[in-house]
Amino acid sequence: MASVPSLASTLHQRIADALSAALPEAGAADPLLRRSDRADFQANGMLALAKKLKGNPRELAAKVVEGLPVGEGELMREIEVSGPGFLNISVSDRAITETLAARAADERLGVPFKEHPGATVIDWAQPNVAKEMHVGHLRNTVIGNSVVRLLEFTGEKVISRHHIGDWGTQFGMLIQYLIEHPHELDHKGGVSGEEAMSSLNRLYKASRALFDSDEEFKTRARRRVVDLQAGDAETIALWQKFVDESKIYFYSVFDKLDVEIRDEDIVGESGYNDMLAETCRMLEESGVAVRSEGALCVFFDDVKGPEGNPVPLIVQKSDGGFGYAATDLSAIRDRVFNLKADTLLYVVDTRQSLHFKMVFETARRAGWLTDDVKAVQLGFGTVLGKDGKPFKTREGETVRLVDLLDEAIERAAAVVREKARDLTEEEIADRAAQVGIGAVKYADLSTSAARDYKFDLDQMVSLNGDTSVYLQYAFARIQSILRKAGTAGPVAHPELALAPAERALGLHLDQFAATVAEAAGEYAPHKLAGYLYQLASLYTSFYDQCQVLSEENPAEVVENRLFLCDLTARTLHRGMALLGIRTPERL
Ligand code: ARG
Repeated sequence: MASVPSLASTLHQRIADALSAALPEAGAADPLLRRSDRADFQANGMLALAKKLKGNPRELAAKVVEGLPVGEGELMREIEVSGPGFLNISVSDRAITETLAARAADERLGVPFKEHPGATVIDWAQPNVAKEMHVGHLRNTVIGNSVVRLLEFTGEKVISRHHIGDWGTQFGMLIQYLIEHPHELDHKGGVSGEEAMSSLNRLYKASRALFDSDEEFKTRARRRVVDLQAGDAETIALWQKFVDESKIYFYSVFDKLDVEIRDEDIVGESGYNDMLAETCRMLEESGVAVRSEGALCVFFDDVKGPEGNPVPLIVQKSDGGFGYAATDLSAIRDRVFNLKADTLLYVVDTRQSLHFKMVFETARRAGWLTDDVKAVQLGFGTVLGKDGKPFKTREGETVRLVDLLDEAIERAAAVVREKARDLTEEEIADRAAQVGIGAVKYADLSTSAARDYKFDLDQMVSLNGDTSVYLQYAFARIQSILRKAGTAGPVAHPELALAPAERALGLHLDQFAATVAEAAGEYAPHKLAGYLYQLASLYTSFYDQCQVLSEENPAEVVENRLFLCDLTARTLHRGMALLGIRTPERL
């Protein structure tokens, strides 16, 4: 559905337009309008403008004030010059309600489409075959999913690529073991994700033990790597078994995380095999890469080891093998030239930043990345335990993602059960999943991605504070009020004066479109999370200070307050959906 631009006009936009109209000499100068504590908005643009026009900022500001109609029936109810030439602006109650009513009429809540949408290929949710998923994969899945939703909502064409680790020398060992123990991956009937992973784990451990203890097996395993790379049919068929078994497991985790992944978007490292030799040839022929001790390398002036010796990006090893870099460079060629992306986005751990810096720079030198194609790593920080150290089990092993998710759901069930009055066990389980998974996602999304954060389930499922449960409760509470009111549809009454808590809520609701645009433009879901938390807090104050369904209220006041409730609920619902978090109707 197309969003109507006039509906999308925010108070902010309407004031900016009015200021420009009152001062034609300003041209396209930015009025530098901000929300402010002193009034509703403050415009600081007169200072720069006066400098440009060689005038006096206070005089310019006074001229603007003179030219603008002010009053309860107008857009602004008050405007005054302060300090060196700032404008303090209060909007009228009427304008607030009118503007909100316009966005309430729009299914997109007034969020406009981007004027020039592009095509983004986003690399996210990339676990590794035959390996357990850990908290790092939680981050690249949860952040990636939210960024996809945000970008799509702004009208961007988004193509997902799940660059799973499905290639490498470890498969020689695994496949050789399977050849020598043929029935290890056979199942009668379907298997669960857990079962799939546990058989992969068992195989991995057994083959590793053999590899480390039996020299002859080691030799056979190494030979098997060569067969795999040569595309030997039997070897590839067995490799495919590992990939398929792993996918059963991945999908079970994605499912638990309530994240939808499409099979055709899973293009792992192996998907670029056919391009690797050519990628290397192109880099060598253009002189971007050079042979050094037999390996094909790219050097950088600013990448040096501890002794000042250059650290190259190795595109092809001296034994002829291709590594992670060759694959990523080939993927860039595919994404730019075949998928026609103008933005390449990588949701990957910041610990891989040097790799991407070198890969992007190499692709630029090769001419694959140009000024028209932007490559960005949306790097994320490390998940820490309560002790502030990278998250590990007591035995020092990496924590299994599934265990964490199960524990979150269990804790959420306790929270839901405590509040539940007439819920069946099934309903409790349903809600516990939505609350528990929401809690984990929200904790991940509510701090800026680049930062490390502590994984603290007690805090995550708390009803108070900056948690998804708090937001979900605010939503469910509004739904219950709306159910009780039982009205056909929300009715706004712009002629009514607003209480301070209504104004504060209304002004914040007005900022939804700008917040979504900012969060999408900067790949920053945490900005949306922060906005939603504030929205729920303002709603709580409104609810405490303004009776909604009180007998003493005139009918219009009830209607107008229900209108605010409804718009708040829809904004929470939409915003949470952009984060990939459910908002149950009842809690
Ligand atoms: N599989 C990698 C990991 O688990 C992430 C892959 C990131 N994407 C890429 N194009 N290199 O860390």
